[in-house]
Amino acid sequence: MEDISSYVQKHKERFIEELKDLLKIPSVSADPVFSQDVLNAAEAVKESLLKAGCAHAEICDTPGYPIVYGEKIIDPTLPTVLVYGHYDVQPPDPMDLWESGPFDPVIKQTPIHPEGAIFARGACDDKGQMFMHVKALEYMVQSGTLPCNVKFMIEGEEEVGSESLGWFIERNQEKLKNDVILISDTGMISNTQPSITTGLRGLSYMEVKVVGPNRDLHSGLYGGAVANPINILTKMIASLHDENQHITIPGFYDKVIEISPEERSEMAKAPFSLEQYKNALDIDDVYGEKGYTTNERNSIRPTLDVNGIWGGYTGEGAKTVIPSAAYAKISMRLVPDQNWKEISQLFKDHFESLAPKGVKVEVTPHHGGQAYVTPIDSIGYQAASRAYSDTFGVTPIPQRSGGSIPIVSLFESVLKSKTILMGFGLNSDAIHSPNEHFGIFNYLKGIETIPLFYKYFTELKQSPQ
Ligand code: BES
Ligand code: MN
Ligand code: MN
Repeated sequence: MEDISSYVQKHKERFIEELKDLLKIPSVSADPVFSQDVLNAAEAVKESLLKAGCAHAEICDTPGYPIVYGEKIIDPTLPTVLVYGHYDVQPPDPMDLWESGPFDPVIKQTPIHPEGAIFARGACDDKGQMFMHVKALEYMVQSGTLPCNVKFMIEGEEEVGSESLGWFIERNQEKLKNDVILISDTGMISNTQPSITTGLRGLSYMEVKVVGPNRDLHSGLYGGAVANPINILTKMIASLHDENQHITIPGFYDKVIEISPEERSEMAKAPFSLEQYKNALDIDDVYGEKGYTTNERNSIRPTLDVNGIWGGYTGEGAKTVIPSAAYAKISMRLVPDQNWKEISQLFKDHFESLAPKGVKVEVTPHHGGQAYVTPIDSIGYQAASRAYSDTFGVTPIPQRSGGSIPIVSLFESVLKSKTILMGFGLNSDAIHSPNEHFGIFNYLKGIETIPLFYKYFTELKQSPQ
């Protein structure tokens, strides 16, 4: 039987076309306008699983968007890999910054992807990465090399907090039983230096509203005499960091686990160029918490950021007005062992206490989730490490990521299994931004690497320990 790399070479055009078809479906979970498209994407994923060789695949209803479940059980005594991914995508906005349509996938070269990249919303996050697993299954089934059982669980609400998936896993623990959970929804350092994600940050997402007078006011007649909600809101937000960029919410750092100097110096060995980092973002300096490096600030430290702020007049020209209300969306990225519900409460109490007389403050929590870290001495990590070493010719580096996949910590507490994060995206792939893309190299390398994970995981699991 042909090996995986010749199989990929032979079928790559079709692999790309099939991914393009999936990317054409605008499965934006945040916007109800796209609800039929989200359902259509679920259907397309189910069909692709059946075509790839799942013996069984179904659309499982939930209170929200459905979960696509598929499986191929070859022998119940063999290990089982559970693949997780998501078929929903972020909204494409701002539309005018896309150089080609977000749901009209095209292949273009970039300096980082000289062999081409597929440009579309979801190309990397997560349709492209999820689809690598479908194609890897196709190869293993076609070549008769599937060494263990496989289950797929692909959801449609990851980008809006995975609420229905939490509901689903609570109710389907037997069905989802597995020996390891495998996810490709993160990134790696570069195409010449692969890495395996060993940590994800948690999240607490809040919305705040500052309310002043009962209507927008003439800023000449009333200016100076009543509280302006935007002035107040911005002052409150500014006070959430001190001069060292520490967060000022009382109790915020109480449960943060400080990393040992040894582990920090180990982390610092990962290749990183501050000059390239700044150049790629067109910034003349980085900014962040005193006492930590850039890579520490965006992975092992908790943060607080305003995601959006609005109120008053933002149209053409000038309008002299004191707004009646001001709004902001604020998120906090969390690290072990911060508890996201506790942090949400600390934020709410503190933010409300900051409000001066003359305004009212409302704080509404959105979704959140716990951080995750995984050891590198597990069988799953070792299997992933060998798989990347084989296909890249370089040993992957363990790396904690700053992003969040809140459901991963629930997998551990409910399904009692470890998650291995085999990401193939790059930070420059512009996930959540205009012109998101996924390198053809990365897509095909992922398809080649995944079957090796199955092989090594099954071998390690079955060898006496
Ligand atoms: N796939 C990303 C998370 C990610 C990307 C982790 C790259 C590590 C490296 C995921 O789809 C995502 O965007 N998560 C959200 C959280 C979610 C609750 C909206 C995030 O991190 O903002
Ligand atoms: Mn994702
Ligand atoms: Mn995402």
